[in-house]
Amino acid sequence: MNVIFLGPPGCGKGTQAKRIEQMRGLVQLSTGDMLRLEITEETELGNQVKEVMNAGQLVSDDIIVKLISKRIDEPNCQNGFILDGFPRTLGQADALSIMLSDKGLEISHVIEFAVDDEAMISRITGRLTCDSCGTGYHDEYRKPQKEGVCDVCGGTEFSRRPDDNEETVRARLVAYHEQTAPIIAYYDDKSVLRSVNGMADIDQVTAELNEVIG
Ligand code: AP5
Repeated sequence: MNVIFLGPPGCGKGTQAKRIEQMRGLVQLSTGDMLRLEITEETELGNQVKEVMNAGQLVSDDIIVKLISKRIDEPNCQNGFILDGFPRTLGQADALSIMLSDKGLEISHVIEFAVDDEAMISRITGRLTCDSCGTGYHDEYRKPQKEGVCDVCGGTEFSRRPDDNEETVRARLVAYHEQTAPIIAYYDDKSVLRSVNGMADIDQVTAELNEVIG
């Protein structure tokens, strides 16, 4: 089963993809995480995309499509994957369709996370991630059980993304509505689109997703 999670920054794509990955054995493919790794490793690609990402703009379709195509070919994707943050433009959606057909694969569900934009600002500016294992937390909505200690690995170092400030989040929301939202109609026309209430609490969203995925 191959699934697309679609929605604006902060809607919960990453949080839920990690949960569904564990529950259903699907692999999370986050284009944002792939690009951040390139930046951390100071690769040529990382240097090329750093400024664009920090400004909240989209990286070019060519770069992203190559990155995802290579990743889908890796053996651990054979049991299915969750695309988190891809496709993000109509060009990417078309490229994905051709790519999957060439690989003999298809998308089972495209799931849109329905949320209010304004609520996404506080979700994102309050987000922090464990440096050791990557588990995501929030200052208010998902605190570690013991303050300053990761529930999963016991790590004590956390970090915030450089693009998680209010100004950049607003730019990311504009990019979402201008360039990404049109693909909702694209998938609706193909009758694979489903929607979940991304404003519900984290456990409720997971339950709704499991129901939709079946
Ligand atoms: P990317 O990393 O994909 O970021 P994004 O789409 O902006 O999404 P986020 O990761 O910020 O949000 P999320 O929906 O995963 O929310 P999360 O679950 O963490 O992309 C970053 C950049 O990379 C882009 O701006 C672009 O430059 C580039 N890029 C990436 N892909 C690209 C592509 N395909 N094409 C071109 N450029 C691309 O949740 C957020 C917070 O809220 C967390 O703290 C969480 O604990 C909390 N939370 C989650 N769910 C709930 C809930 N239900 N209730 C309360 N709190 C919640």
